[in-house]
Amino acid sequence: MTDKTRAAQKRGTVESAASLLLDLRSVSRVYEIGRVQVRALDGVSLAFRGGELVVVLGPSGSGKTTLLNLLGGLDRPTAGAIRYGGTDIVALSDGDLGRFRRDHIGFVFQFFNLIPTLTARENVEFAAELVFRDSRQVEDRALELLTLVGLEERADNFPSGLSGGEQQRVAIARAMAKDPDILLCDEPTGNLDFRTGQQILALLQKLTGEQGKTCVLVTHNTAIAGLGTRVVRLRDGRVQSDEANASPLAASEIEW
Ligand SMILES: Nc1ncnc2c1ncn2[C@@H]1O[C@H](COP(=O)(O)OP(=O)(O)OP(=O)(O)O)[C@@H](O)[C@H]1O
Ligand SMILES: [Mg+2]
Repeated sequence: MTDKTRAAQKRGTVESAASLLLDLRSVSRVYEIGRVQVRALDGVSLAFRGGELVVVLGPSGSGKTTLLNLLGGLDRPTAGAIRYGGTDIVALSDGDLGRFRRDHIGFVFQFFNLIPTLTARENVEFAAELVFRDSRQVEDRALELLTLVGLEERADNFPSGLSGGEQQRVAIARAMAKDPDILLCDEPTGNLDFRTGQQILALLQKLTGEQGKTCVLVTHNTAIAGLGTRVVRLRDGRVQSDEANASPLAASEIEW
């Protein structure tokens, strides 16, 4: 891809910033353990658009991870519809759902989940290899992303030689390797002190604000809510409120 077409693609992403990306209608997820049923999500309807930073707040057990797993095609709902662009992802075969996840979704987790035997660079390259065939492209993409997250000088460190915040930045670079439309972040600052957490939140703001990515960040930490362009509150598997935030706080203004 030439720089020109890449730039045009990027503009396309930003221009279509208001377009509907993911749409959940009356989604429920019931887990069955023996004869006990747990209704983890109960009739959730939510729509996500390009460029949004949606903070989903809820106490432990309210269904946050269940929601992210459904949004990212890691799990299927018991009832309801999930559309990604024009595609009904619930109807996809397992193979097609896997390809959808690989091509469109970036995941970021609380405990970073880096591969300990690979360096920062190799962790990102490993993800880039799923989309780029040419080894030069893979290397370039990995370095570009490590630079974006401010870690080009740590590229050859193993995860054990990186701080928690640095590991999470590598994990974000890894999630971005495939240039996904959406980043799904499960308590991404849950294991970090607030100063380090601020850096991670600032990075997520940059990716949504400047690159038009959509970010869904789930957390039980109410201090983070002010950062979002939108705040969804979940309780007992239901949407309690869903509010736009016209003046989100800067990450540096958030403390916990
Ligand atoms: N695989 C599973 N099997 C059975 N029950 C499950 C499973 N996963 C989640 N649950 C139940 O579903 C409910 C919602 O769980 P979920 O993990 O989505 O909550 P959460 O909001 O992410 O909580 P936390 O903040 O503790 O991570 C909980 O009652 C949980 O026990
Ligand atoms: Mg969870």
